[in-house]
Amino acid sequence: MSDTWWRGAAIYQVYPRSFADGNGDGVGDLAGLRARLPYLADLGVNAVWLTPWYPSPLADGGYDVADYRDIEPVFGTLEEAETLIAEAHELGLKIIIDVVPNHSSDQSAWFQEALRDRSKRDRFWFRDEPNDWQSIFGGPAWTQVEDGQWYLHLFAPEQPDFNWDNPEVHQEFHDVLRFWFDRGVDGIRIDSAALCVKSDTAFEDLDEVHDIYRSWRRVADEYDERILVGEVWLPDQERLSRYLRQDEMHTAFNFDFLSCPWDPAALRQVIGRTLDMHATVGAPPTWVLSNHDVARVVTRYGRADTSWANNDRKDGAETNLELGYRRARAAALLAMALPGGVYVYQGEELGLPEVDDIPDELRQDPMWTRSGHTVKGRDGCRVPLPWSGEEPPYGFGAGDTWLPQPEDWRKLTAEAQAADLGSMLNLYRTALRLRREQLGDGTMEWLDLGANVLAFTRDSGLTCVVNLGPSAVELPPGEVVLSSGPLEGDHLPSDTAVWLTS
Ligand code: GLC
Repeated sequence: MSDTWWRGAAIYQVYPRSFADGNGDGVGDLAGLRARLPYLADLGVNAVWLTPWYPSPLADGGYDVADYRDIEPVFGTLEEAETLIAEAHELGLKIIIDVVPNHSSDQSAWFQEALRDRSKRDRFWFRDEPNDWQSIFGGPAWTQVEDGQWYLHLFAPEQPDFNWDNPEVHQEFHDVLRFWFDRGVDGIRIDSAALCVKSDTAFEDLDEVHDIYRSWRRVADEYDERILVGEVWLPDQERLSRYLRQDEMHTAFNFDFLSCPWDPAALRQVIGRTLDMHATVGAPPTWVLSNHDVARVVTRYGRADTSWANNDRKDGAETNLELGYRRARAAALLAMALPGGVYVYQGEELGLPEVDDIPDELRQDPMWTRSGHTVKGRDGCRVPLPWSGEEPPYGFGAGDTWLPQPEDWRKLTAEAQAADLGSMLNLYRTALRLRREQLGDGTMEWLDLGANVLAFTRDSGLTCVVNLGPSAVELPPGEVVLSSGPLEGDHLPSDTAVWLTS
């Protein structure tokens, strides 16, 4: 691939705890991932993004990093991570890792030192008096330490926020980036990127935050073809575009698309706005349907209200999974046809639904405890993947899995789906293969096929048509190369998408 591989890449997100378990302890690990790299190469993605793999007490699924230069022992070793990077590269897969600059774990050497020694507290956000900020997981954002001072944690108390006014913090992260780039990592996903810089009255999207990413870009540019991907949840597209200026990040996740309801007008607007915004800075858009923080797409799209908001998660809302599944198939063809990059969250290619009925006592997400058990949290999209066999653990590992798997996932295993031509897995495989040849980075032109239909032609000549209306619509001329569901003669049924060549 060229040095702009990332502009049109399909990137598969691995949540290591739940991907595949190589040593049979019920928790996914690097051995499990290494064994399944050929599956990912076959699937047809270009890169793999791993959520944090560092030593961590796992108070927030690894987003509480105790040591940025090592691997969590439950997952493997640093040496094994290097082997994994090399094996991925041999298969033509790039590796993107997660770096968490807003906060560390309270078990990190720096925070432990700060607790012992008041003169070492300037790396974090210690104050004599807390303000009224609330944690994103619920409850106050400040916790008092033994000698009476308070520290800030925008997330869980086990995740103390760094003080980015301190040059030592900048230096530390430059070193961390080089540590991983030196080991062959191709990209960095930047966690909670808009939150790092704070004033006494605000913590989101302060102008000074851009200095951090400008300097990170300079570090990335010391190497060949390395990229920065921002996790930037901002409603204002103009503000978001500032992170994607030529001397900052390469790309960012498109949360507008993820949050958008399954509605033609809303989607048309989000797509248009995304393309316009990215054009102003020359960055490629990305198209994201799900990740480890949001309810599974099959479940979301089967609800009466198909929109998503982090503060309105619609836990347990009634869902029609058959309808959600049909829409998720159509949405996959839409996301993969649009210009730019696309993300696939593990299990999305298997059409997994959200697991709504995890017993409360087994829930692990801090959202659940911090919200006083009012928000179920994110465990339902993090259930270990079903690979093969008839019953749990479905080839995930050997014994009980860290979160229980449903009894009715037999037909959803990768093995069962590989053998079924009409499966979600085979739809993803075919689409990703066609996408590599004809889609990805580039341009598109809208076609007008009525208010309920999204239709556009890509620069390669491939046309994507998605019918979001209640009744079938006539297809434009062309040869169907892929469809998300059965057609009705020359008509495209409701909640169905096709790719056509002229
Ligand atoms: C990001 C991660 C999420 C994590 C949070 C705090 O939003 O995606 O999983 O809990 O940051 O690090």
